[in-house]
Amino acid sequence: MVERVAQKVKDCKKLVVLTGAGISKESGIPTFRGKDGLWKKFKPEELATPWAFQRDPKLVWEWYQWRRQLMHDKKPNKAHYLIAKLEKMVPEFWLITQNIDGLHRLAGSEKIIELHGNIWWERCVDCSYRRENRKLPLDEIPPRCPECGGLLRPDVVWFGEALPEDALDAALRHSQDCDVMLVIGTSAVVQPAASLPVLAKNSGAFVVEVNPDETPITDICDVSLRMGAVEFAEALQRHL
Ligand code: APR
Repeated sequence: MVERVAQKVKDCKKLVVLTGAGISKESGIPTFRGKDGLWKKFKPEELATPWAFQRDPKLVWEWYQWRRQLMHDKKPNKAHYLIAKLEKMVPEFWLITQNIDGLHRLAGSEKIIELHGNIWWERCVDCSYRRENRKLPLDEIPPRCPECGGLLRPDVVWFGEALPEDALDAALRHSQDCDVMLVIGTSAVVQPAASLPVLAKNSGAFVVEVNPDETPITDICDVSLRMGAVEFAEALQRHL
């Protein structure tokens, strides 16, 4: 089965890869859903919404600082590196990720659409100031904008918020005109990311899912591999 996927990748004109938290699980970063997922211990509505931030910016920042501390020493795994290699191998490539951990960039991927933002970036709620900040711990919680003194927030997409327009437009466009899409490590329950594989399939792409569990998109995929991202990367590598 992986051999067939490898052939499709080698023959493709435009490859799009969509990733979720599952691809970073083997780098030691917990997923959100599933048995030991983050949403088992924390309530998204208390931490990952604009209302939670308005109500208690200190609590929300303490949670993001804790996630930054969890992520800061994690390394990309073989699956991240394989995706970076595929980018150089095929005529046209785009990576669309829901992850905010920055591991794809660390692995060398360049053509990345970060649908849900990036945990290492902060932006001001009152002006257009934004910055990358890898300092741990933060100098102050919640951090203040050096330009206007307003509150800085994590530059990530929260529940109830629209995705960055340019990122979503690009993700829709590339999903519509790719001929192969690899969907790796996502539970495919959060919109609009979960619709991208359906869009690709309806536009004629060969869609491959890599996930130890079945998901709501499993049935529409041409191939759905019940395996982890690293196992898939090692198997695909053998046939490239
Ligand atoms: N390799 C590949 N997939 C794996 C692995 C692995 N080793 N281990 C677990 N998975 C799968 C799980 O089966 C699950 O389907 O990864 C998926 C992770 O799903 P979620 O935790 O829901 O993560 P994701 O799909 O990225 O969530 C989407 O929801 O909470 C929001 O903004 C957050 O971007 C996130 C969005």
